[in-house]
Amino acid sequence: MFNWGIIGPGGIAHQFANALAGLNQGRLYAVASRNLQRAQDFACLYDAPISYGDYDRLVDDANIDVVYIATPHSHHFHYAKLCLQVGKHVLMEKPLTVNAKQTQLLVELADKHQVVFQEALWSRYMPCFDDVKSWIKAGKIGDIQYITSQIGFAFSHLRDHRLTRPDLAGGALLDLGVYSVSISQFLLDEHPEKIHAMGVINDDKVDQNTSVNMIYPSGVISQFTCTIGAQCSNVMTIHGKNGYILLPHCFWNGEQAQIFRDGQLVETHDFPHQTNGFEYQIQSTMESIKTARPYDPRMSHNDSINVMQTLDFIRAQIGFILPESIESI
Ligand SMILES: NC(=O)c1ccc[n+]([C@@H]2O[C@H](COP(=O)([O-])OP(=O)(O)OC[C@H]3O[C@@H](n4cnc5c(N)ncnc54)[C@H](OP(=O)(O)O)[C@@H]3O)[C@@H](O)[C@H]2O)c1
Repeated sequence: MFNWGIIGPGGIAHQFANALAGLNQGRLYAVASRNLQRAQDFACLYDAPISYGDYDRLVDDANIDVVYIATPHSHHFHYAKLCLQVGKHVLMEKPLTVNAKQTQLLVELADKHQVVFQEALWSRYMPCFDDVKSWIKAGKIGDIQYITSQIGFAFSHLRDHRLTRPDLAGGALLDLGVYSVSISQFLLDEHPEKIHAMGVINDDKVDQNTSVNMIYPSGVISQFTCTIGAQCSNVMTIHGKNGYILLPHCFWNGEQAQIFRDGQLVETHDFPHQTNGFEYQIQSTMESIKTARPYDPRMSHNDSINVMQTLDFIRAQIGFILPESIESI
């Protein structure tokens, strides 16, 4: 039974804790918040025996095997570094860090301390994306030409939301665009060789709307828009010579895939989650620990680094600059 700890018990940590409760190889052992009462309230909801009022105490707890880090992205690097240095396994929310050099350093630390370090880009661990990838490889819709996706929500009117704050690495690209970059990479099994991006930096100094074309060595194009200022269709479509695969609203949830030929819907595949979709990445992390593999091959360190390099490149093109205090290593 693996003892899990949570750093940053905010919105998404509830999804994690709910999914963990449905699995029998691990349990929520400790919760750390910057505020002890918040940690205790969260721990009480999920029967976790230990609560800490600061993150460092959880890092020091020798009873914890593996830590789920769910702070805003700005704080991922710092806490992952602390955990990996003391030999704790880590499952960390997307995007892993705010830039590629931080991800590279964490990968080196995980190698050095021989611990599991996995990016919680939850979609990549789901049966839906395994199946879609196998359909593409089997030529079910013919040669792939391009992928399109839109991802976004209207957040930017919310004052003080983490997505509107550069000091918390807000903006659309790092939080939402990362799905389009990472899922395209997963489905195509290649890294983009050319990237053209345009973006609008808003008054909060984060990217509000970003539009990107990525061209892969195979000649496939993946084109996406991400936004924190609009309601979106949130669909991904993979276009092939003989048809297309549509991943409907919200595509990254991996709950349904439809296949169209000649404009007609010919197959619908449903992928109901056992709990909420977080179970796959948690299960995978525990499998990695048990089998002493450094990561799940569906989300390799090399892929995580490449995703961050792509995001760095896009940010440079659209002029999205983050405070040096959160970019440093
Ligand atoms: N996989 C998914 O579907 C999914 C969905 C949403 C978000 N995420 C990822 O999960 C991470 C957290 O997102 P979230 O929406 O859960 O964030 P959130 O609720 O805004 O923040 C999470 C927690 O981080 C802690 N925190 C630490 N330093 C902070 C600071 N300086 N300012 C604000 N909070 C701070 C807070 O906990 P305490 O104050 O209690 O310490 C807060 O509750 C992000 O990296 C995001 O990309 C993933």
